[in-house]
Amino acid sequence: MKLPITRELFNQIILPVYAPAQFIPVKGKGSRVWDQQGEEYIDFAGGIAVNALGHCHPKLIAALHEQSEKIWHVSNVFTNEPALILAQKLIDNTFAERVFFANSGAEANEAAFKLARHYAIEKYSPYKTKIIAFYQAFHGRTLFTVSVGGQAKYSDGFGPKPADIVHVPFNDLDAVKAVIDDHTCAVVLEPVQGEGGLSSATPEFLAGVRQLCDQFNALLVFDEVQCGMGRTGSLFTYQQYGITPDILTSAKALGGGFPMSAMLTTHNVAAVMHPGVHGTTYGGNPLACAVGNAAFDIINSPEVLEGVSKRRAIFIEELEKINAKFNVFREYRGKGLLLGAELQLPYHGKARDFLTMAAECKVMILNAGPNVLRFTPSLIIPEEDIKEGMARLAKAVEKVVNS
Ligand SMILES: Cc1ncc(COP(=O)(O)O)c(C=O)c1O
Repeated sequence: MKLPITRELFNQIILPVYAPAQFIPVKGKGSRVWDQQGEEYIDFAGGIAVNALGHCHPKLIAALHEQSEKIWHVSNVFTNEPALILAQKLIDNTFAERVFFANSGAEANEAAFKLARHYAIEKYSPYKTKIIAFYQAFHGRTLFTVSVGGQAKYSDGFGPKPADIVHVPFNDLDAVKAVIDDHTCAVVLEPVQGEGGLSSATPEFLAGVRQLCDQFNALLVFDEVQCGMGRTGSLFTYQQYGITPDILTSAKALGGGFPMSAMLTTHNVAAVMHPGVHGTTYGGNPLACAVGNAAFDIINSPEVLEGVSKRRAIFIEELEKINAKFNVFREYRGKGLLLGAELQLPYHGKARDFLTMAAECKVMILNAGPNVLRFTPSLIIPEEDIKEGMARLAKAVEKVVNS
């Protein structure tokens, strides 16, 4: 029996934790996607900041194909060449001296939080376990990461949470000062909050937090799962601030669409780890790292990184044209191609309506909370695709405004 593969089937057989769009994408090339009926969409969502080089980039296909004929998986009982090459690239281009590979953003963060606690416990005291994190932050969906995340709607309802996690308002240095002490092992933050509405850390805030971490022997952990790997115009966002973390996590664009993640740290912090203390079966898988290597080389080029701010400017110019007609946007947020458009007050709570209508008008966009439209397109999206997508978005906005 051949099943009709439809959106209705999703409702019958998939765990109901998502409400995906009505169409089913079957093919992608660059920033264009086609559904089962052959309808074409412009992709401003980029798989939530994953497809940094668009869909089916020829160099990523070649890397995947080449590696697929060599070796797919060995586990961490054995090491492999693509993983070592990618780790060396990450080290050569960041503050890092040690790399741990995992498979998702949540796992990279889980490793980061465990490492921060383990470091403090081994080095200072079994009571140095407090993690300071921020409201609206998002760090993943494991119980530890969702508990460090600052959104109760994601963390409530699953029984007892990991203890000793304190949340304070983002960009509020006094609030951090009020809770940080000798029992603090880490301060965890996203330099640009991705899911939480695209607030960017102020330079003073990051500098202040760095200083407080140093003062209290706490580690500074940057979650760059969403804002890293070229998304904001530098390889990692911390490089624009000149504030160096002790641990940094990367995922999403790191694999260019192949699931993978990494946690970066220093020799000193890594020194508390030994074989068996932490691990994963798939982390650093040769297929993932082969694609990661190809993606890294393209993303970490002046051409791609410098193109980010140019493309952001075109996005904002086009959004402004829509705004001149419909007055729906209040403020532009985020950095580079992690771009948010906050809706005007009468449209607060309606971001999903804009998303749904955009999909009907054949442009894929995202939201970041109920009030902000989010754009995380390919970093190499052609100008004509931006303009075509914005023409479609204008139609969607008109329909929402007139509904
Ligand atoms: C900043 C940040 N951290 C962590 C995660 C979790 O990553 P994953 O969904 O790959 O586990 C996300 C996902 O959106 C994210 O935006």
